[in-house]
Amino acid sequence: MERTELPVAVFDSGLGGISVLRALVQRMPGEDFLYFGDSANAPYGVRPAAEVRELTQSVIARLYARGIKAAVIACNTATSAAIGTLRAFSDIPVIGIEPALKPAAAQHRHVLVLATPLTLREEKFAALMQRCAASAEILPLPCPELVEFVERGELDSPALTAYLARQLGPYAGHVDAVVLGCTHFPFARRAIRAALGGVALYDGSDGTARETQRQLVRRGWIRGGTHGTVTLENSLPSELPLSRRLLDLPAED
Ligand code: DGL
Repeated sequence: MERTELPVAVFDSGLGGISVLRALVQRMPGEDFLYFGDSANAPYGVRPAAEVRELTQSVIARLYARGIKAAVIACNTATSAAIGTLRAFSDIPVIGIEPALKPAAAQHRHVLVLATPLTLREEKFAALMQRCAASAEILPLPCPELVEFVERGELDSPALTAYLARQLGPYAGHVDAVVLGCTHFPFARRAIRAALGGVALYDGSDGTARETQRQLVRRGWIRGGTHGTVTLENSLPSELPLSRRLLDLPAED
């Protein structure tokens, strides 16, 4: 099969990457997307980096063997642990995602960054934070439990509201922007906003979709039209109905 006709693989530890998949489909409706969520091994963000690297490499190797023209690592955690290794061994574009701290810090003085413990302790984030520290006060906050709420499809339950009130309540009135530095978190946008009041929310999904498009255009591998397909797969097949539901949710502003 010609390269252009192959699908774009999109990978996450679980269901969070579907927030990136939505942005990809919106930007490139002519492409075929093959989404793989590793919910059987989620959450990744509380594991050691070496383990996340291994899990990520083994999924991407399997998808590559099936024939893909690009791999989008729609997971901040897997990107920080594995992107270098993946790129070193790949002849296709491998696109990652990082917390959208740059645009947030360029516009706001006090920025809260929600992400997994692994993302926040990796060197990649330390470097990013250093680049932005001159213009804004940056407050990193690990929220591993929020990943699990989204994995269960709990996007507005009383338990989620109580958890967010506990975690975010102390920052209400002190921060003016929040970076959703984990691809699961955009699904909890409404609840996050309710816990913090009128703050600006930033996530990297459209930036990642734009970069993917740029890489495909550069190689002449882009497929026009609007008739692409989306295939959803998961290492826990019982997650597929929820995956479909998340994909079909209207994106909030
Ligand atoms: N969705 C992933 C991210 O963007 C991480 C979730 C997990 O901990 O598995 O960081």
